[in-house]
Amino acid sequence: MDRRRFLRTSCQACAALAIIPVAASLEGCASTSKLAITDGVLTMPLDNLRKDGSAIVKADGLSNKLMISKRADGSFSAVELNCPHKNGPLKEKGGQLVCDWHGSAFELDGKLLKGPSKSGLKSYPVEAEGTMLRVRVG
Ligand code: FES
Repeated sequence: MDRRRFLRTSCQACAALAIIPVAASLEGCASTSKLAITDGVLTMPLDNLRKDGSAIVKADGLSNKLMISKRADGSFSAVELNCPHKNGPLKEKGGQLVCDWHGSAFELDGKLLKGPSKSGLKSYPVEAEGTMLRVRVG
């Protein structure tokens, strides 16, 4: 292998290694943010919201992920992504949170739309303060 070819191959390999961690971290930010809770309050920058005004977050001390959503009136909701029926996981589908296990459905702010669950999702108060959202979880 001549010097020029060696340098070109080495530079391509280094460039690929430099891109992979950045791409992986961006993918992580786009789907779920992991945040810290201080004095019972989870704090998140508003910039973490997706274009649709929502974010899925997890934090040490919370047993379930939270879905934070911006309502039409500009206020925010935070609900646990855990079905109250039998603790099934919830997925966002067509603007609702739906449980694949038995079909319960909820609005993004946790109100029950369809059973078999008999109650809405556990929710937490959210305040917007400057560029931050504060969710009281404790
Ligand atoms: S666990 Fe969700 S509907 Fe049964």
